[in-house]
Amino acid sequence: MMAYLKDHQFLSAFLFVLGSLTFAKFAVKTLAVLAQTFLLNGTSLKQFGAKKGSWAVITGASGGIGREFAIQLAKAGFNVLVASRSHHQLTETVAQIEAKCGSDVQTKIVTIDLANAHDDGFTRLAEACQGLDVGVLVNNAGKSHEMPTDFVDTPKHEMDDIVAINVSAVLRVTSIILPGMVQRKRGLVLNVGSFAGSIPSPMLATYSGSKAFLSTWSAALGEEVKSHGITVQHFNTYFVVSNMSKIRRSSALVPTPASYVRSCLSKIGLACGAAYTARPHTSTPFWSHALIDWAMGVVGWKSAFVGYTHGLHKSIRKRALKKKERDAKSQ
Ligand SMILES: NC(=O)c1ccc[n+]([C@@H]2O[C@H](COP(=O)([O-])OP(=O)(O)OC[C@H]3O[C@@H](n4cnc5c(N)ncnc54)[C@H](OP(=O)(O)O)[C@@H]3O)[C@@H](O)[C@H]2O)c1
Repeated sequence: MMAYLKDHQFLSAFLFVLGSLTFAKFAVKTLAVLAQTFLLNGTSLKQFGAKKGSWAVITGASGGIGREFAIQLAKAGFNVLVASRSHHQLTETVAQIEAKCGSDVQTKIVTIDLANAHDDGFTRLAEACQGLDVGVLVNNAGKSHEMPTDFVDTPKHEMDDIVAINVSAVLRVTSIILPGMVQRKRGLVLNVGSFAGSIPSPMLATYSGSKAFLSTWSAALGEEVKSHGITVQHFNTYFVVSNMSKIRRSSALVPTPASYVRSCLSKIGLACGAAYTARPHTSTPFWSHALIDWAMGVVGWKSAFVGYTHGLHKSIRKRALKKKERDAKSQ
């Protein structure tokens, strides 16, 4: 082998340079992931109007991740406008904010069905935002499939609702808020995405496609508006304890909404786990999600992940159907 390499000095030099460059690229990108996830702080929320009378608008703030965004943004010094269908649960969100922040924070509630394009909620939302200095918009409301299901068997109303809430409503809500941000030359748009948007998820095909849209749209929009002083950040989210995930207990891989949102708000402007594959305006901020994202980038074998996800969803479906059967029998 050595004799062969001596005879082929050019080849061995080429392989050495190639190997060194590949390793350097791996090392630099891995260090970026580790530094951004574990060491660096993101842009301060003060840059977007915290403690200056600015507002944060959060969709889907009646529970789960959205409620936590509302609470933590209020604690950070924003007035908050919360929106979703359930007025009662939104009043609970507001009560929690008042209990934690006292009368320092102003609040507004807009009840809206984001699945219904004709809902006059969009008009009411626009009216409620008129004249407000909105510093932060969190496009958080989202809908997934009731359980993993092949596309051919997906009920039409379910796929329509997913596209309406996860795609069309995000566009409509953002187009209500963004012009004011452009005028003020300041704003933060946070879009809550999913790993299902970066790894195609068989049996959740419509949800997966809707979150891929969010990722691509965020990247394009982020580039457009950055010269106006507006930051767009798309969060690549793995599992979080919530009604949607149907996971009740937190673990290292599945944070509570409170821990998850804390990581999101402390990493504004940083890609964290997404730094390895450098997707523009995407961040994977929670530490264990960041490490999964990094590992997936290193392995880089997307079709294997798609196959694994398909297997996982087949078994989740089996369990979900059994549970449905048990519930039906016990009624
Ligand atoms: N939890 C996870 O593991 C996970 C993983 C990846 C991504 N995500 C994303 O995180 C976001 C928040 O999800 P979550 O886990 O916090 O779920 P969640 O607890 O079920 O919250 C979903 C929120 O969306 C609102 N919403 C649903 N349909 C709506 C409609 N038609 N009109 C208005 N609001 C509507 C709900 O409010 P109402 O019912 O009051 O309308 C609720 O506040 C979603 O975008 C989801 O895709 C979650």
